[in-house]
This record gives sequence, structure tokens and C-alpha cells, in this order.
Amino acid sequence: MIQPHKVFEVFTDDRKIFTKNLTPGQSFFQENLYRRGGEEFREWNPERSKLGAAIARGSLNLGIRKGNVVLYLGTAHGYTPSFISDMVGKEGLIFGLDPAPRVMRDLIHLSQSRPNIVPLLADANHPEEYLDKICLADVVYQDVAQRNQSEIFLKNCAIFLKKGGYGLLAVKARSIDVRKKPKVVFEEVKKELEKDKSLKIIDYRLLEPYEKDHCMFICKKD
Ligand SMILES: C[S@@+](CC[C@H](N)C(=O)[O-])C[C@H]1O[C@@H](n2cnc3c(N)ncnc32)[C@H](O)[C@@H]1O
Repeated sequence: MIQPHKVFEVFTDDRKIFTKNLTPGQSFFQENLYRRGGEEFREWNPERSKLGAAIARGSLNLGIRKGNVVLYLGTAHGYTPSFISDMVGKEGLIFGLDPAPRVMRDLIHLSQSRPNIVPLLADANHPEEYLDKICLADVVYQDVAQRNQSEIFLKNCAIFLKKGGYGLLAVKARSIDVRKKPKVVFEEVKKELEKDKSLKIIDYRLLEPYEKDHCMFICKKD
């Protein structure tokens, strides 16, 4: 039986996780669809999504609610954004940023069926370039494989994250330093985040076995 998960807007059958499909009958990533009691659910694979992996690893408060505005940095083709799109629903909005034209084509295609996704071809290193295109966000979600991941995250949270909002940072250790042990890199990122006194880390998860050498930080802005 598919029933509500402890995480808001997520569902579970005690083994897999799902969201309620905003576009019934349509799946964009060959994900399985299940009809139950007049609703349609999309299966969310934690091996393809760091946010899915964080849920599978036990994160309960992602800070994502129906109707939220989400700034998503590093959308790629839109796999995880599509599930956030289900979570925030028709009343919500996702500004989805990626500087790679090849993946942006897929995101634009996705946004044609999911109007709550606004694709932006932009580099998260340069928020000044999209400052006039987006509004304050309830959630900043970042998944960019860059050496200066924490700097990009802090910069965007400082400008776009509302007070009381949540910042989620997926960290890929090998993009920061291949020579260091992932846990050492994660500790350094934690120290960087702690320097920002407006953010409080409320959750930290290693994402193994779903994502090797990755972790997720969830922060709340005071
Ligand atoms: C691991 S993929 C993201 C996967 C996606 N978040 C998901 O779960 O479906 C990382 C993405 O970050 C993007 N990226 C890299 N540097 C970036 C930057 N400076 N600003 C925004 N996106 C960036 C890459 O183009 C790539 O598409």
C-alpha cells in the first residue's frame, strides 16, 4: 500500500519512495507509475537522485512544502527537479539553473509539461546575472560538481534564501579534492558553512550506498 511518508509530500510502500504525479500518465525518465485510489504515484530512484538518497538515508525534514519557491542550482536533465515539481505542486515554483545548453534543452522540454519549472541557462557562480529574473526562495537546493561548491551555495543563500528558509547542499567530495578522504572534505565543507552565522546545519547525511563519496547538508536560515 502506498501511504504518506514522514517527509512532507513524499509517499512510501515501506520499501520504495514516490511522489504524487503532477502530470498523470506522463513519465519523463522511464520511472514506474502506479495508480492507487484515483491518484498516480511516480517511483523515485535514490540511486539517481541525491535528494532521494537523503530521504532513503533517513532525512526527515527537507524543508520542501507544497506551494514553495525553490531555487535549484545544477538541474542537469531535471530528474530530481521533476520530483520537487511534484512536491511543491501547481502552486509552487522552481527556478532551475544549469549552464550546460545540452541539458537545458531537456529541462525546457520538461517545463513544457510542468509549468512550475522555470529553466534558466545560467552559471550559479554569477548570481548577479539572474538577480533580476528570480524572486526570493523558500528553498535553495544545490547539486553542482564544482570545486567551490560551498562558496557558490553560501553566495546564493545569502542573496535568494528567505529568512526561515532551507538550504540543501549535495556535496561531491571528489569534485572538491580527489586526494583527500571524502570525510575530510565533508568536514571542511561543514566548517565553511558554519562560518555563515545566518545558517544553521540541521541535518547531515552520508549518501552511501546510493551515491558514493557524497553527502547532503540541510541548513535553516535564521
Ligand atoms: C550531478 S549533475 C545534477 C543532477 C541533478 N541535480 C539531479 O539530481 O537530477 C550536476 C549539474 O551541475 C551543473 N553545473 C556545473 N557547474 C554549475 C554552475 N556553476 N552553475 C550551475 N550548474 C552547474 C552541471 O552542468 C550538471 O548538469
